[in-house]
Amino acid sequence: AIGFINGEWIPVDQAVLPIDERGHNFGDGVYEVIRVYQGTPFKMREHLVRLEKSAEAILLTMNYSIDELEALIAEGLAKTGLQEASVYLQVTRGIAKRVHLFPDVPASTTMTIRPATDLPATVREKGVQVTLVEDERWKNCYIKSLNLLPNVVAKQKATDAGFYEAVFVRDGIVLEGSSCNVFLIKDGVLITPPANRFILHGITRATLLEIAKEIGVPMEEKEFGPDELLAADEAFLSSTSMEVLPIVEIDGKQIGAGIPGTISRDLHKNYRAKYQ
Ligand code: PDD
Repeated sequence: AIGFINGEWIPVDQAVLPIDERGHNFGDGVYEVIRVYQGTPFKMREHLVRLEKSAEAILLTMNYSIDELEALIAEGLAKTGLQEASVYLQVTRGIAKRVHLFPDVPASTTMTIRPATDLPATVREKGVQVTLVEDERWKNCYIKSLNLLPNVVAKQKATDAGFYEAVFVRDGIVLEGSSCNVFLIKDGVLITPPANRFILHGITRATLLEIAKEIGVPMEEKEFGPDELLAADEAFLSSTSMEVLPIVEIDGKQIGAGIPGTISRDLHKNYRAKYQ
């Protein structure tokens, strides 16, 4: 594993940030998580474009360009020699005394590159139980912001109650998990909530919609409520780290046959084929 801060490669556990850092003080920044398969970052450009969009949305000017970040990720990967890795990239409004108004300092970019931790095979084979919770987040969830308080609290509460993930519902509409997107399959049609401001526009989500098109699975981006999700034939979560993770139970109610569905498995197989 290796760390990076504003031009310097360092051990991941080295203390480097001063107390006054906008990321710490305000959660004033944005981030990305990129998976590296067999030495190649998957959909790196898409992730970096999203990072820049998130930064723009919070009026933050990044201190590295997308091209520079690509080169840095490649450099870091070469240094670690890791083939299967996870890149965490964070850009904050910089290092300055704690005052709400934006400081006149450059943004601060940090990164870690660590060995990827895959889900245990049994979790993927069995599928997971999730719980539906009220979405208490703000209305700009398309921004990959460092402010993850509602997400981490929802995830912890769900885990404490024996669930794998919490799925947010706002005004009767199912949106996404605390760190993933959500899909259902009904009568052979793949359905996922539209990419509006209430969800993160997942790179995995977009990739799966692409795959659905390629392999001829009809798909639709449309809103659905808890009832429609519960009545699905199959359902799954998607993210950079989960890839495609079947949901077999929601708040104790079985989905489909209570085992990972065939279309979900097929989508996952094709997802893996994209990088192998
Ligand atoms: N989470 N929705 C939310 C709220 C997320 O935090 C994530 C990603 C996703 C899926 O996005 P993608 O397919 O681009 O990874 C959806 C990352 C992995 C994380 O916070 O660790």
